[in-house]
Amino acid sequence: MEVKKVKWFKVADSRDAIEWQSNRMALVEAGGKTITLANHNNEVFAFAHKCPHASGVLADGFIDATGSIACPLHRFRFNIQNGRNVSGEGYYLKVYPIEEREAGIFVGFDENSWLNIFK
Ligand code: FES
Repeated sequence: MEVKKVKWFKVADSRDAIEWQSNRMALVEAGGKTITLANHNNEVFAFAHKCPHASGVLADGFIDATGSIACPLHRFRFNIQNGRNVSGEGYYLKVYPIEEREAGIFVGFDENSWLNIFK
């Protein structure tokens, strides 16, 4: 079985240091890549910048009443924790592990996919 290696990138000193939009989402840079953060139920989640359907900017969407991310373009919805497409179109949103440490908020990328960015 392949063991995934995760490379961690600091995205902010704390939650308060993040410029949250009124929809409780924010765009941040991690390892040279733009990603989306969402603050939901007092927990921070990290996922891709753009929607897997047609590249809608997810930070311009909203978090619905069930805690799913809704894309602003065609309203496809994704589970905030695992990226599963809960509105049934069959897409998958890339989500990233996140850790809130004393030193700040860190987002983890699979080391292999992170290295692929520079190829
Ligand atoms: S681009 Fe996101 S649902 Fe179409």
